[in-house]
Order: sequence, then C-alpha cells, then structure tokens
Amino acid sequence: MTVITVAIASDHAGVALKDVLAGELRALGHEVLDLGTKGTGSVDYPDFGHALAEAMAAGRAERGVAVCGTGIGISIAVNRHAGVRAAVCHDATSARLAREHNDANVLALGQRLIGEEVAKECLRVFMATDFAGGRHAGRVAKLG
Ligand code: RB5
Repeated sequence: MTVITVAIASDHAGVALKDVLAGELRALGHEVLDLGTKGTGSVDYPDFGHALAEAMAAGRAERGVAVCGTGIGISIAVNRHAGVRAAVCHDATSARLAREHNDANVLALGQRLIGEEVAKECLRVFMATDFAGGRHAGRVAKLG
C-alpha cells in the first residue's frame, strides 16, 4: 500500500470516531493530518469540513476523512470545494463504490449511525480501492 497523508476532521458529534480512525490510519502506515476538533465541546461542522477541504486543495493531504453525527453536514461543507469529493458511506460496499465509480477522495461517516467496526471497515476499503476510470472518468470530470 502506498503511504499517503490523510487529513481528518470532525465536529463534537464525531470526535470519538475520528480519534479511532486516526489510530487506524496510523496503524495502516499513513501520515495523519488531524484538523480537530479536540474534545466534545460543541462546535460547528462546517468549520471543520471547510478546513479539511482547504487542506486537501492546498496539497497538504491526498485523501480525507470527515466525521459528524450523520456524516451529512460535514460532507456538504466539504463538497462545496472544487476537486474535493466527499461520499457519506454506511458500509464497505458504499465505500468501495464511492472510490470505484465516484473517485471520492473524502470518506464521510456518521458516528451516531454506524458502529466503530463498520466504520473501520469502511476506512480500510476506502483506502485500498482504486478509481475504476473508464466510463466513470467523464462523469466525474463533469462534477468539476
Ligand atoms: C450535531 O448535533 C449534528 O447536527 C452534526 O454532527 C451533524 O450530524 C450534522 O449533519
């Protein structure tokens, strides 16, 4: 597996899972750029989604992981940035297809919706799966 830098960010409703996934990424051998939040004090998920997308657009990380209560709010924030594609995933199949078909470069997860083991499986699959290209490439280009 190629070692890359992965940016990771969450709000207070995703911080526990974020910290677990940061450990999982390090265990896989990747560099982790942890953009917070730290602790469970209430914060606003757009601030962390924008920070993650800006770090990726600036070339500070090649992939990202974004966590909030549902994965939805923070993914909406991430997806407002050109070239950054976040997919909310709930299982290994959605994580695989987000990479194969959509070339998603940010995995978004909801701490309140999925368990830790499923989240870790989503992460491992997301990191290990390549974009399929072919007929999907033109469609992804139209997202830009
Ligand atoms: C925070 O309460 C919650 O709204 C947020 O984490 C997220 O689920 C929004 O989409």
